[in-house]
Amino acid sequence: MTIKIALLGAGTVGSQVARLLKEESELLSARAGAPLELVGISVSNIDAERDPWIDRDLLTTDSTALIEKADIVIELIGGVDLPRKLVLHALRSGKSVVTGNKALLAEHGPEIYDLAKEKNVDVYYEAAVAGAVPVVYAVRESLAGDTVRAIQGILNGTTNYILDEMTTKGLAFEDVLKVAQDLGYAEADPTADVDGHDAAAKIAILASLAFHKRVHIDDVHVEGIRSITAEDIAAATTGGYVIKLIATATQDDTGKIDVRVNPTLVPEAHPLASIGGSFNAVVIEAEAADRLMFYGRGAGGAPTASAVLSDVVAAAAKRVVGGRAPQEIVLGESEFVSADDSCSKYFIRMKVKDHVGVLAELTRYFADAGVSISSVHQEEIAADGDVSLTVTTHSARAADVAATIDSINQAQTAEVVRVLRVGDE
Ligand code: HSE
Repeated sequence: MTIKIALLGAGTVGSQVARLLKEESELLSARAGAPLELVGISVSNIDAERDPWIDRDLLTTDSTALIEKADIVIELIGGVDLPRKLVLHALRSGKSVVTGNKALLAEHGPEIYDLAKEKNVDVYYEAAVAGAVPVVYAVRESLAGDTVRAIQGILNGTTNYILDEMTTKGLAFEDVLKVAQDLGYAEADPTADVDGHDAAAKIAILASLAFHKRVHIDDVHVEGIRSITAEDIAAATTGGYVIKLIATATQDDTGKIDVRVNPTLVPEAHPLASIGGSFNAVVIEAEAADRLMFYGRGAGGAPTASAVLSDVVAAAAKRVVGGRAPQEIVLGESEFVSADDSCSKYFIRMKVKDHVGVLAELTRYFADAGVSISSVHQEEIAADGDVSLTVTTHSARAADVAATIDSINQAQTAEVVRVLRVGDE
């Protein structure tokens, strides 16, 4: 029995999957329990330049015909509409599917999981979240005996790389983005990275697995890093924080879920503060296990291919010995914390004219909205008496913080420059 594999897409990750399938053929086949054979690679342009290990005889533009020839279909095309069509076609035809497509799963996961269940076939997606870091397996299988309370992660390598370079080298956002693209971390359209949508799709997938509730990408509150400036980073550093794009998923005691992606001030002592470069890290708080941390390469061709191939081996082994992969488990309707009720500590940076009573006036707006101040830091920024004032709050409702900012703006007491969430210790 030979397990036939169709590869849809030969981009940064697809090409590395083809290389490893070739170079590690013997080892992967031994682990799967049967020889693995790559029967074709579908691409949009047959004549495009390819890596030297890509066998041109395997290239085709006919994805549908290729799917028919395979037992396992690896989808690494990117985008949503075409992959959705092809993945549904593969499942309808009884093929196992391995995908690294987080956007597809965060938008159309239920349709895909339902069809897979109906057709008695499996969908694997370790590569969709945090590249090489085996966090899908961890949440779905390793923690199946525990209750996950919260997940907090750096799930986008491009933005972590950008923020890290801005922090450590004082570089400008645009210059670092270009390097991240050249290094192959960024999506073809880096908007998905810098505006937080890539991380949002990943945290939606993890939240669904952890809480056994369906979480769509539109349920995630998303804020990207485009507006973060050198001044924000300097102010955060002064306060003992590092700015990171943090994706979080929490479930409170009433079962309400809060899933979000925000540039966040992470206390320097927190394990996520030290994650540099394009690395990803995920911290999981589980009831019995307590705190777990996963760390590794979340982007790039070979690291992501590692996760794809682990799924290929698992899917192939199931084909050989029978049985099913773990299924989607939905244990109830999803209820979400409203945007207004979402609570966090906040860091508010303002520009203020330094005169008698200004601090008293400002702090009154916080008190009036029921927002408790935790610290205040003032620094002179110009000879004419302009000062930079940063206020950090205790945990407060988003709506109460917004009301405070509205009052400050209306009274023109200060110019509010930036409002950022602050993570816990
Ligand atoms: N572009 C993503 C990142 C990798 O920078 O982390 C794939 O999701």
